[in-house]
Amino acid sequence: MSITVTLQEKRVFAPSKDFVQHAAIDAKTFRAWQAQAKKNPQKYWEGAAQELRWKKKWTKVQKTKKGSMSDTQWFLGGKLNVADNCLDRHVEENPNRLAILWEGEPGETVSWTYRELLIQVQAMTAGLRKLGLAKGDRVAIYMPLVPEAAVAMLACARAGLTHTVIFGGFSSEALKDRINDAQAKAVLTADGGYRKGAWLPLITHVDTALKVCPTVKDVVILKRADVGGANRFKKAVGEVDGTSTAKRHDWYSLTGSLKADEVKKLGQPEWVDSEHPLFILYTSGTTGKPKGIVHSSGGYLVGALRSSRMVFDLKPTDLYWCTADVGWITGHTYLVYGPLAAGASIFMYEGAPTTPTLDRFWDMIERHRITILYTAPTAIRAFMKLGTQHPKGRDLSSLRLLGSVGEPINPEAWMWYRENVGGNRCPIVDTFWQTETGSIVISPVPAQTRAKPGSATFALPGYDVAVVDKGGKPVKLGSGGFLVIRKPWPSMARTIHGDPERFKTQYFTEFPGLYFTGDGARIDKDGYIWCMGRVDDVLNVSGHRLGTMEIESALVSHPTVAEAAVVGRPDDLKGQAVVAFVTLKADASAKIKNDPVAASQAKSDLRVHVTKEIGALARPEEIRLTESLPKTRSGKIMRRLLRELAVSGQVKGDTTTLEDFSVIASLQHSDEE
Ligand code: PRX
Repeated sequence: MSITVTLQEKRVFAPSKDFVQHAAIDAKTFRAWQAQAKKNPQKYWEGAAQELRWKKKWTKVQKTKKGSMSDTQWFLGGKLNVADNCLDRHVEENPNRLAILWEGEPGETVSWTYRELLIQVQAMTAGLRKLGLAKGDRVAIYMPLVPEAAVAMLACARAGLTHTVIFGGFSSEALKDRINDAQAKAVLTADGGYRKGAWLPLITHVDTALKVCPTVKDVVILKRADVGGANRFKKAVGEVDGTSTAKRHDWYSLTGSLKADEVKKLGQPEWVDSEHPLFILYTSGTTGKPKGIVHSSGGYLVGALRSSRMVFDLKPTDLYWCTADVGWITGHTYLVYGPLAAGASIFMYEGAPTTPTLDRFWDMIERHRITILYTAPTAIRAFMKLGTQHPKGRDLSSLRLLGSVGEPINPEAWMWYRENVGGNRCPIVDTFWQTETGSIVISPVPAQTRAKPGSATFALPGYDVAVVDKGGKPVKLGSGGFLVIRKPWPSMARTIHGDPERFKTQYFTEFPGLYFTGDGARIDKDGYIWCMGRVDDVLNVSGHRLGTMEIESALVSHPTVAEAAVVGRPDDLKGQAVVAFVTLKADASAKIKNDPVAASQAKSDLRVHVTKEIGALARPEEIRLTESLPKTRSGKIMRRLLRELAVSGQVKGDTTTLEDFSVIASLQHSDEE
């Protein structure tokens, strides 16, 4: 990992007496959970499951097929509905509690109580059913971060539809691939949204994608101007143009045109089996094709709820803000499902942290009196660079807890966060987890754990985490190894959509009998875990997960490219930056030889191409054109060498002309990668 996580094992921060005194989970309960999880994990998780509302109780807590952890089911025989748990039961208790407070980038706000959110969700559930969608169908969601994005997810959950949310920053190509892999029957989208003051026309990408998505029959389009339901009852927008046969529906016309008794009837929750797939979320791995990670309903929500309460110390008086987009797992578990299942009030913000002013985040915390902030180290490092005057210029005294997620947080950023945002008063929870784990695995429990800056500290109860050597044996305290989970947990991914074999080989074969995260970690003398970053070909750029092979595939799909190799380079802000080594086909190569202008144009064309194929988040920071790639005698690209070159910049000379690696490669005697 690029950012140096210097192990500062001695510096320890305990939560304040005040925080401990008012904690949602007291020390006694926490210790009892820890003890039970150790002794009898199934019993522990059964207790957690009892915090949900089940239509039918499970008959068996957990079943693992022939000792193979990859084939595990939880709460068998149980029936529930995720939206019922996130909405109805809170409405029955207190309909007027704030569910979502949203602010758009241009500054407008929407505030929905649990009752109002339920009404929106019921109407969309009825709308989706009216379109003919039924339990088990897949629905793609490609939306800006507006409250209707949560409505979309919850309406799918309510109708028993499996959603796949695709981040709005992904290109039409990436959108098309995901829709087709999931075989989605409908797309929920918007005409666009705002980011950094610019208008992002999402519908244009949808229209392009749908020309080659034969399974999609209906497209529901939210007008950004209608967010919050202000301009309801508009006329429908008519048929889609182009070659797609999908029908277009205006969001609020679809929901607004239904009669009250229709909404009542069609808006009812579908009671699904605990194992029913709630969603598919695509994430990058070590191959060129992103994997559709499938999550269950019951087990997933049990993990989401228990961890939300334990890690974020949620109380009815909190206004909790998770800055993640719904396109990522954090936006699923800790923006929507976990906090809503806990009955919390959530804050949601559409846009960029520094638009229109550099203190936009702090301004919103001050104005809305936000109490919990959960964000990514990359954002914290960007704020550090902007200077302390921005957080200092605002009243952040409402904050009582801070969180970090997505990549290792360097101790310097941790300390800056604590001092300048948390006023040296708020505990910090550095939470390690993954798309595949569904919920937080390693994190401090704020009132119970003494934190060390840069360490995610300890596994939560019920997650059997270990740092192991190559042979799968736990390493001694004070050493490093590979991060694994040794026993099944309820919110673990169930499979890869359409590729169950890959699910097994990807996660359960490296260390037989164990789940391998793909991360390296150290365990210090006190047993604290320090997550050090990926040990495979997965990059972490600004907390976004990207496969090197995925970017390479995008590059080689360009007509001028012969070969490409992508590596990560440490970056002070982004954690890692994408560096691509590219060899061009003979005629393209001849064109740029001794022509710096043509070479520069070729690089810029390739950047545009990657943006088109995947999205701006994958655009290489640097492209190096080379006549050949350094390879071992057996023909494997020497990535380690390329990484060294990317980091140290050893290969000097005019980068606008070709670099010749043959000399360097010939100096390498080793045949290993
Ligand atoms: O490398 C780890 C890193 O992010 C990866 C998971 O990425 P994704 O599935 O996109 O989920 C991100 C949000 C949960 C992990 O394999 N990672 C995540 N959180 C941390 C982290 N690395 C170190 N410390 C963390 N707190």
